[in-house]
Amino acid sequence: MISLIVKTRRVSCDVLVIGCGSAGLRAAIEAHDLGADVLILSKSKKGDPHTVLATGGINAALGTMDPKDSWQLHAADTIRDGRMINDSGKVEILCRDGPRAVKELVKWGARFHREKDGRITQRFFGAATYRRACFYGDYTGREMTRVLTEQAVKRKIKFIDGVYVTKILKRGKEAVGALGVDFSRKEAVVVGCGCIVLAGGGYSRVYSVSSSRLDENYGEGVKLALDAGAELIDMEMVQFHPTGMVWPKKAVGVLVTEAVRGEGGILYNARHERFMKNYDPERMELGPRDEVARANYSEILHGRGTRHGGVLLDISHLPKEKILSRLPRMYKQFKEMVGIDISRSPMEVSPTAHYSMGGVRVDRLGRTGIPGLLAVGEVTGQLHGGNRLGGNSLLETVVFGKIVGKEAARLAESRKNARVDIDDVGRELPPVMNGAMKARARIQELSWKSIGIVRDGDGLRKALAGLKKIRAECERKATKPRIGEGMEATFQVMSILDAAECIARSALERKESRGAHTRSDFPKEDERWLLNVCCRKSAGGISVSKRKLAPLSPAMKKLVGRPKPKNHLLE
Ligand code: FUM
Repeated sequence: MISLIVKTRRVSCDVLVIGCGSAGLRAAIEAHDLGADVLILSKSKKGDPHTVLATGGINAALGTMDPKDSWQLHAADTIRDGRMINDSGKVEILCRDGPRAVKELVKWGARFHREKDGRITQRFFGAATYRRACFYGDYTGREMTRVLTEQAVKRKIKFIDGVYVTKILKRGKEAVGALGVDFSRKEAVVVGCGCIVLAGGGYSRVYSVSSSRLDENYGEGVKLALDAGAELIDMEMVQFHPTGMVWPKKAVGVLVTEAVRGEGGILYNARHERFMKNYDPERMELGPRDEVARANYSEILHGRGTRHGGVLLDISHLPKEKILSRLPRMYKQFKEMVGIDISRSPMEVSPTAHYSMGGVRVDRLGRTGIPGLLAVGEVTGQLHGGNRLGGNSLLETVVFGKIVGKEAARLAESRKNARVDIDDVGRELPPVMNGAMKARARIQELSWKSIGIVRDGDGLRKALAGLKKIRAECERKATKPRIGEGMEATFQVMSILDAAECIARSALERKESRGAHTRSDFPKEDERWLLNVCCRKSAGGISVSKRKLAPLSPAMKKLVGRPKPKNHLLE
């Protein structure tokens, strides 16, 4: 690569947090409180990370509505409907610490919906035995972001936003900093640090239909880790949320929160049949996400969808005041984008790529195996197994944010001298290509078609061939780095190429259907696949391997029971 002279800002800190969402914020707060000098570097504007889109709730077994709930039942639900490939040790930590984490948010000023007697209201989410999602209308993620950002600001934690990180910088095998680009100031940013916490989000924008905003979740986080030598796990496990908007064009994929079903929303097909009775007669609309998404997909595929290609989600039987107090965002969203009053008419919905259950393989302290590089939040994998329960991701961010922040402070203290020093910044910048937006759209369409809700061996092989072709074209077009137009889109293309290839390779490897991964040529869950699939990148490209699962504790095994086999065939 030809190098160029670029204006460069050099910064140093003990702990560098990449990402200003709730996982990054919580990690930053903890590391700061333990004495570290922390910098949060983010592409998103401070206070407006992807977390603000998390709507329906945060789970914690507080038992305010259903006193019989317990963290153990929460963990058992998470593992059972994660289809048994979660890291069960991490699940236990998540659920045991949930009530404390929610109380901490309350202490910091987070508002939650309350009963008249002051108890925090909890509502049902899919696959939960009891009501355990705490919420603030359907703005829960926004409220958490507000409070956590406020706490970080109060502590005078430094933020630099508008910076797109393109590389983890290493000295030998160790991570010692990061390189980013500030497009508005047209300069490179080089951060040297004792320890990095990668909290850069997921990869659901691999798909053309996604609940992420247009500039979010291209898998940049997993690419940064993969390029740095870390391992990814369960990349085939992509969560398709059952209910995204289907029209108008600009709204396609936008999330319709599960809280609608949690509050009693009913799904109908275009023939006005309540079809969930054919898929999960016990749990109906409150079945797990993978199952409800497949049901919606199947109804649409088999011609029972609406004119716009959706199914109907109806909440109009609830009093309007209740809709306004519990689902205000949905009310506003449909009123403004579609011109529909959801207290009178049903919503049209269909599946949308929503969450990445796969991601960077980390241990319980967030360690990636690369000294100096930790990761937390959606960028990591395996906690949620093959299917995440709604409400568990916000919880993950604060529970593991605290744990990883503590580890980061400890690590930074022991690595005071690990700082980066690069002279030739231009050489380290990523290339730029013409036509990046078109390439991005091609990859997203290909992914939606071939590595989407239903996959098969032929389609996956074709997807890999298609990705290879696009990658070769992109590499041919890539030119020397030039800070400015095209660099971000090019890095997004390179990121979704890696993420999509990892999804396709892992999906091809896993010859069964489990959780969100449905193979029409292997429609049954198969005990032999009670394991994780991992990806690594080397000079030879991306390779996959299998990893054994740690066994469940005997007590948890008893609680989880034997999950009922699932029907992955679509009828
Ligand atoms: O539907 C939702 O409100 C999404 C929640 C989640 O993904 O946890």
